[in-house]
Amino acid sequence: MAKDISYDIKDIKLAEEGKLKIEWASRQMQVLETIKKRFTKEKPLKDLTIAACLHITSETANLLIALQAGGAKVVACASNPLSTQDSVAASLVKHNNIPTFAIKGEDNKTYFKHLNKVLDFKPDITMDDGADLIHMLHTSRKELLKNIIGSSEETTTGVIRLKAMEKEGALRVPVLAVNDSDTKHLFDNRYGTGQSTIDGVIRATNVLLAGKKFVVCGYGWCGRGLAARARGMGADVIVTEIDPVKALEAAMDGFIVKSLEKAVEYGLTDIIVTVTGNKHVITVELMKKMKDGTILANSGHFDVEIDIEGLEKIKKSKRRIRPFLDEYVMPNGKKIYILGEGRLINLAAAEGHPAEVMDMSFANQALAAEFFVKRKGKLTNSVHILPKELDQQVATLKLKAMNIEIDTLTKAQKTYLSSWTEGTK
Ligand code: NAD
Ligand code: ADE
Repeated sequence: MAKDISYDIKDIKLAEEGKLKIEWASRQMQVLETIKKRFTKEKPLKDLTIAACLHITSETANLLIALQAGGAKVVACASNPLSTQDSVAASLVKHNNIPTFAIKGEDNKTYFKHLNKVLDFKPDITMDDGADLIHMLHTSRKELLKNIIGSSEETTTGVIRLKAMEKEGALRVPVLAVNDSDTKHLFDNRYGTGQSTIDGVIRATNVLLAGKKFVVCGYGWCGRGLAARARGMGADVIVTEIDPVKALEAAMDGFIVKSLEKAVEYGLTDIIVTVTGNKHVITVELMKKMKDGTILANSGHFDVEIDIEGLEKIKKSKRRIRPFLDEYVMPNGKKIYILGEGRLINLAAAEGHPAEVMDMSFANQALAAEFFVKRKGKLTNSVHILPKELDQQVATLKLKAMNIEIDTLTKAQKTYLSSWTEGTK
């Protein structure tokens, strides 16, 4: 039962539903469970306050519970106004005594009020998914910077923002780019976003993907996963890129590569999904040329990839057809459909990545918190990555959980791989 803690959630009565969801996710998060068991014994995070600004899902709940097991006082808020699972937020409060400030569908004012609330707890460590908390620490809440021993970042867009801060000399705390660990982006961004974005598009629309022209904007980690999964559903997949190497890779992976302009002009656009981390990838000018019925969604971090503000200005009318599906009538009378208000569709309309991949992402987050404690005072105020040994540790634990055995190098092979004397015989 919740002790006397502050919180702002939708409804505490949803807590039992959330508890079961969290328990189900924990079954698929064996790497994090192993770390949690060690944390329970060793208490590496004793006396620390950790403020987490993450998507409030059943997977995140398991991370927060693991940090708490490590001795930390944990507080949480949402990293996106539409990604909170209200039942999970309720269970965090009721069953875990975690002050939680997150409501699915909260407006922007409430979103930032919630960020301020978690900062009021004067954290020693912050965790971000998109760098909003650390941005606030460097702007309106600067007085709290002196307490921070480190801040970790979950996603590509957050890392980009942090590197820009570092480049400008503005960064005042050490940062760990958890996204940049191999056991994070190779799996979460690729297989997680691949599957959960398709899940979001289907839950929002219930359209058949087989035979559809499905455009993936951006062939980075997320785009690769999404394109592969869309193809697996029987869609004709078209990739758009701005990077020649990635475009070539997409072409040799067997996808049609086109400029978005041409894809629109040729009517190859039943569904377009952006995963670029860039703004205004789909402009109003392009929307005006799209064929009737085109469905637009975004799975990149911020809701800037589709110019919805511009669309709002030119629309003739707008209707909500079903949850997370808005119909816009264009000045030329054609209709286009926007999913999840242009916010990341996998978390808005679906439940985000499955627990199996978040297991590795959040194992890295837990290890990042421990790393800050071990290296307290020794890290520069720049963007660091976790040591490769920790990647190997996470991968080894995941293989064990999946019951997969691999080979080991013999002594002779180790010597061979580090020598130059053996060549043509
Ligand atoms: P990435 O850097 O690996 O890939 C982005 C790709 O987009 C790059 O190849 C880049 O060249 C391309 N790109 C940039 N501008 C473009 C444009 N105008 N048109 C076409 N392509 C363009 O990044 P990533 O790891 O794939 O992440 C992409 C976005 O997804 C980021 O915002 C990231 O934070 C977010 N993300 C979301 C989830 C989720 O759960 N929905 C999970 C992980 C990452
Ligand atoms: N990002 C993508 N999927 C997620 C999930 N299930 N939980 C937390 N963050 C996520």
